Amino acid sequence: MTSICCIGAGYVGGPTMAKISQKCPDISVTVVDTNADRIAAWQGDDLPVYEPGLLDVVRESRDRNLFFSTDIESAIGAADIIFICVNTPTKTYGIGAHRAADLRYLESCARQIAAVADSDKIVVEKSTLPVRTAESLKRILDAAQGAARFQVLSNPEFLAEGSAMEDLENPDRVLIGGERTPEAAAALQTVADIYARWVPRERIITTNLWSSELSKLAANAFLAQRISSINAISALCEATGADVDEVAFAIGTDRRIGPRFLKASIGFGGSCFQKDILNLVYLCEFFGLNEVAAYWEQVVIMNDYQKQRFSHRIVRTLFNTISGKRIAILGFAFKKDTNDTRESSAIYVCRDLLAEDAKLHIHDPRVAPARIRTDLGVTEEDPSVAVASDPYEAAAGADAIVILTEWDAFRVDQLDYERIFKMMRKPAFLFDGRNVVDLDRVRQIGFEAFGVGKG
Ligand code: NAD
Ligand code: UDX
Repeated sequence: MTSICCIGAGYVGGPTMAKISQKCPDISVTVVDTNADRIAAWQGDDLPVYEPGLLDVVRESRDRNLFFSTDIESAIGAADIIFICVNTPTKTYGIGAHRAADLRYLESCARQIAAVADSDKIVVEKSTLPVRTAESLKRILDAAQGAARFQVLSNPEFLAEGSAMEDLENPDRVLIGGERTPEAAAALQTVADIYARWVPRERIITTNLWSSELSKLAANAFLAQRISSINAISALCEATGADVDEVAFAIGTDRRIGPRFLKASIGFGGSCFQKDILNLVYLCEFFGLNEVAAYWEQVVIMNDYQKQRFSHRIVRTLFNTISGKRIAILGFAFKKDTNDTRESSAIYVCRDLLAEDAKLHIHDPRVAPARIRTDLGVTEEDPSVAVASDPYEAAAGADAIVILTEWDAFRVDQLDYERIFKMMRKPAFLFDGRNVVDLDRVRQIGFEAFGVGKG
């Protein structure tokens, strides 16, 4: 029986391995992590990662051929293939601080594999990494004392949170990069054959290692750039009376541009886009490509501007003071259908409002209250932040509602905005940063309503 070990039981490791184990019942998949709480949660029904459909897939294979464990050494020892899915956050210290990727978790995996392995392994980079990381990985592995030989492949993950199970079931492509040697080609074939159990062969792309590593950074940079582009246009729409959704529709019908990923918003969040663009910027600077670095950095600068512009608009609209005012925040996750708040625009908007002395009543359907408080740096006793168990509780007595995540539960046909309006102080304001509310309809109810890129 082929045996897979996945190091890192997070948003990528958990769902990806659940899918592989579902599709390949004859392959044993063990997901390991240093975080014992996370591993324990994967063994129960309250998974550490919320993704629609994930629990069903986990239940299907758990304890059949899908295992979660903190015994990293045994899992590495038993594996033929090791996927590295650890976090690669932006470095916060030293050389390249606030730009470069922090590779310490990756390196510690490499050293642990080198120390433990006593048989040949295929080591697959699934984490998003700077170009040429595979070279360092290989040097550390090849310095191991034992007889084991290692093949290093790059297989970046393209899933988006909230739609991870669908993305894994039906990916646009699977990308696998490897060296051009017969041994690497054989390793690449082994991994390609696993995906080929359910992904059409023509969607399995193979490249050299560096192209694979760079393609992941480039894909995220292009996606984020589209959002910053439409958000830049949204600022001009607000100044001129054009409507950004109409503009997005009009330009998106051009087949060369396409309609997807053109939704104006309060800015992109999530653990990937900003981190990966900054990583790209750092790489460009490292290679002396300063104009290229500046070009990509502008995508992040635009994103910060968009978040701040939204907070400023709220303050300006509420008569230039929100001191002591109660503001209902609907949504805290960085997008709908996830409990992930990493780099959520909501964190930045809430911090701006708290700096103006507002009282926030925050509701999110999936984010735990403790997570919200930690992200905002407040304790349970802090009177400036309350976490509400539903939108009505959040809105009672509020001056304004601010929608920061596009959860379906906040749509006009799901939430009773008339009831909410009656509970609020007048004039009642509604700010929709995520395009979930029909502004004309809520204006009919009596709200003074504002959306991104709308008048
Ligand atoms: P995560 O933080 O959710 O999970 C990473 C896990 O690795 C953590 O649970 C951590 O405890 C564990 N870990 C770290 N070092 C370890 C070690 N030495 N041994 C064992 N476990 C260790 O991160 P994530 O969101 O799953 O992202 C993982 C990688 O995938 C990152 O490089 C990210 O850029 C990339 N990626 C993420 C997404 C996404 O949507 N989140 C999508 C594509 C790619
Ligand atoms: C992204 C990439 O899409 C995925 O391929 C990669 O593997 C990881 O990074 P993710 O961050 O999980 O995925 O979600 P995504 O759907 O890309 O959304 C990111 C952010 O952009 C969210 O805050 C979302 O609200 C925002 N967004 C997205 C917009 O503001 N407008 C859009 O049109 C699309």
